[in-house]
Amino acid sequence: MRIILLGAPGTGKGTQAKFITEKYYIPQISIGDILRRKMNLENNVKKNIQDRMESGKLVSDIVVCNLIQDRIQHEDCKNGFLLDGFPRTIPQAHYLYENKTMIDYVLDFIMPYEDILERISGRRIHMKSGRVYHIKFNPPKNKNKDDITGEPLSIRKDDRKEILTTRLKEYTKQIKPLKQYYLKQSLKKTLKYFQINAKASMIDIQESIKNVLKD
Ligand code: AP5
Repeated sequence: MRIILLGAPGTGKGTQAKFITEKYYIPQISIGDILRRKMNLENNVKKNIQDRMESGKLVSDIVVCNLIQDRIQHEDCKNGFLLDGFPRTIPQAHYLYENKTMIDYVLDFIMPYEDILERISGRRIHMKSGRVYHIKFNPPKNKNKDDITGEPLSIRKDDRKEILTTRLKEYTKQIKPLKQYYLKQSLKKTLKYFQINAKASMIDIQESIKNVLKD
């Protein structure tokens, strides 16, 4: 099964990606996590990625496409994968198509922008593993500590309110043509496109995803 998760920042893509990949035994490919791991490198690529991410802008298509192409060649992707946060632009979607990477499902997480700030401002993450918490909706067992390792949790630099505004603007700029692209593909029956009510509880969203993936 090959799945794409679309959706604005903070709509719960990463949270549900964990559930989907455990249930369907496919790897989660989170381009945001891959890019954050590149921050450990010391070269010009790192500088470029860091500047773009920390200001809330998209990283260039060529950089992210190469990273994705490299990742989906791995052995663990042979029975499918979940792309979390890719594609985000029409050239990225074309790149998948031109490389004959066919997709089965596109799940589009929909939520009003005014609710996104609460999600993002309460998010805490465990950097090394990518585990995600929320101080109100999904708190760790011990305050500000990762449940598994006990290590301290962090706040992402790009979760600051002013950066979130730029991320939402970038998303708004790109999403309309991307949605139309996948809706068209869905009409041609080359894949299935579903909208997910991302405002619902985590459990209710899991249920709707289970129903959709049965289809
Ligand atoms: P990325 O890391 O992908 O961030 P994003 O898309 O902005 O998404 P987020 O990780 O912020 O949110 P999410 O939807 O995963 O929500 P989460 O599950 O954490 O990208 C970061 C940057 O990388 C981009 O700005 C860009 O620079 C670059 N980049 C990435 N992809 C790129 C691409 N394709 N091309 C170019 N550049 C790219 O949930 C949020 C919070 O809400 C958590 O605290 C969670 O616990 C909580 N929560 C989740 N679900 C619920 C629920 N149902 N009810 C209550 N709380 C919930």
